[in-house]
Amino acid sequence: MLMPSPRGTIGIFDSGVGGLSVWREVVRLLPAEDIIYLADQAHVPYGPRPEEEVRRLTHRHVAWLVEQGVQLVVIACNTASAAALQSLREAWPQVPIVGMEPAVKPASQRTHTGHVGVLATPGTLQAERFHRLVERFANGVHVHTIAGEGLVAWVEMGRVEGPEVEAHLHKLLTPLIQAPIDHLVLGCTHFPFLASALQRVLGPGVHLVDPAPAVARQTQRVLLAHDLQANSTTPGAWHFVTTGPLAPFRRVVQRLVASQLTSSSHSIYFHSLRL
Ligand code: DGL
Repeated sequence: MLMPSPRGTIGIFDSGVGGLSVWREVVRLLPAEDIIYLADQAHVPYGPRPEEEVRRLTHRHVAWLVEQGVQLVVIACNTASAAALQSLREAWPQVPIVGMEPAVKPASQRTHTGHVGVLATPGTLQAERFHRLVERFANGVHVHTIAGEGLVAWVEMGRVEGPEVEAHLHKLLTPLIQAPIDHLVLGCTHFPFLASALQRVLGPGVHLVDPAPAVARQTQRVLLAHDLQANSTTPGAWHFVTTGPLAPFRRVVQRLVASQLTSSSHSIYFHSLRL
């Protein structure tokens, strides 16, 4: 449908626009690749859905990306990665799949207070994968978890700052402020877009840990290891695809990653489809 080039095409998937926080790091490192960003806005949020349903939805959307000819898939969603990463790799052994998980390890290694916070969706926090992660890497550090109620919906609307957002964050994060944490792991790809508001609420002493740059570096490593990189230096085409309505999607993408879009010479396309 989208006719991407035979090499160097990356598919990036999220339930909505949160994965753009990963997309912007990927395009910084890999400007020549064609990229299809797929947002399942017909079903966002994934966070409160049963794991089985998140797995089914994720498989359906990755299948579509593979049909478009993508060479590598990035699951730019912690909730979908926790529910489906393993089964995706079994279903498409020929396609390298990069996933993500909350950055508990670096936060636990760097804390001075011995308290770190993880802000994520209920799906991520309940997953077996997350419990194993904490068991393995917390090393005596106190890991405080908070489910980011309502935050995904705000980011989906492009509403990422203002007094109401800050008041809600303050209420939500009070236990972390009291702990006191010195690192907050952003365990959902929507949350880096709330970074300024989070920093204002938590104060300058709390370091926000966004795994997106590390995920982008891993994407680059995997692409090179499989010799799948674009063999041209001209800017790749950027496709933004939603399973929801097109006009609000286009508006929110243009708002959240405005600087990447306006400063680029890439061909940019928006699509809406039913899956
Ligand atoms: N952006 C997703 C994540 O990283 C999930 C948001 C949602 O759909 O609940 O977990």
